[in-house]
Amino acid sequence: MTIVTGVTARVPAKLNLQLAVGPPRADGYHDLVTVFHAVALFDEVTVEPAERDTVTVTGEGASTVPHDGDNLALRAVAALRKQVRGGNRTAGVRVSIAKRIPVAAGLAGGSADAAAALVAANELWAAGLAPPRLAEIAATIGSDVAFALLGGTAVGRGRGERLTPALAPATRYHWVLAFAEGQLSTPKVYAALDRLRSPGGSRGSGGDDSPPGSGGSRGVAPPGPALDATLMSALRSGDAARLGRALSNDLQPAALSLYPALRKTLAAGLELGALGALVAGSGPTCVFLAASADRALELAVSLSGAGVCRSVARVTGPVPGAAVVSAQG
Ligand code: C5P
Repeated sequence: MTIVTGVTARVPAKLNLQLAVGPPRADGYHDLVTVFHAVALFDEVTVEPAERDTVTVTGEGASTVPHDGDNLALRAVAALRKQVRGGNRTAGVRVSIAKRIPVAAGLAGGSADAAAALVAANELWAAGLAPPRLAEIAATIGSDVAFALLGGTAVGRGRGERLTPALAPATRYHWVLAFAEGQLSTPKVYAALDRLRSPGGSRGSGGDDSPPGSGGSRGVAPPGPALDATLMSALRSGDAARLGRALSNDLQPAALSLYPALRKTLAAGLELGALGALVAGSGPTCVFLAASADRALELAVSLSGAGVCRSVARVTGPVPGAAVVSAQG
């Protein structure tokens, strides 16, 4: 029998093609209806046996990832351990995270690392937990962790953890991501949205400052957020132009209020021919949909030349969720 001494899992970043946010709940979270979409920008997480739990992080934004008990990947491993009876087998682990997904960028990189740690530790410990059980544990770690396990394109409800895969043809979409200098804190962006929607808020009942054609949405909090039928129909048709017009994000006005320079980035991408533009989740990454791989390349080159972002990446979606890519032993 081969003894496995390390397992590596790969996990994608997510976009929200729609992010409809309801009013704050009693527990501080907001009810959501969101359309998640996993894209080919991957972190890799390796889990190996060790005396005690530790984490090391390399790559994009590594120095800003928590290295202690606040690290979501370590929390995921600890949560899985509680569910597995394995004696010494489930003793400490060394978690090594190789990051390509920027930190606090609206792309759920921390949640992705937690999902990858779950599938890697499940394999290392030969725990054999089935996907629905892993998804339950994922939901206790963070709102986006369950989707990072699932991948593809899926509708999320509740905090975002109740998932239904979207039925859509196998269309490959071409996206350009414009990474910003700095980060945005997700709780602060949700709090800014609540302020904007409050009766005294500057946009309690009016529009927002998003560039025309970008996915900012308007108005006060809906009583219950609803799935956008136009967006779902665009996904079913596989028509990128229709999808580009239907992208929307209720958090966008809040992200723009905290990071006004993103307006210029969104406007530049639309001027350069993007089919649609929006802030990724709570930002500050900006996302653009292109008509083809060639158009995405042109857009990426032009955006980086325009000086409206820190760097750009071209990615395709949808892609599958967290999966083991190698086991050492
Ligand atoms: O669940 P997660 O830890 O990723 O959420 C981070 C923060 O984002 C929460 O503490 C909360 O402030 C905000 N949030 C929210 N409603 C959601 C998801 C996140 O208010 N559905």
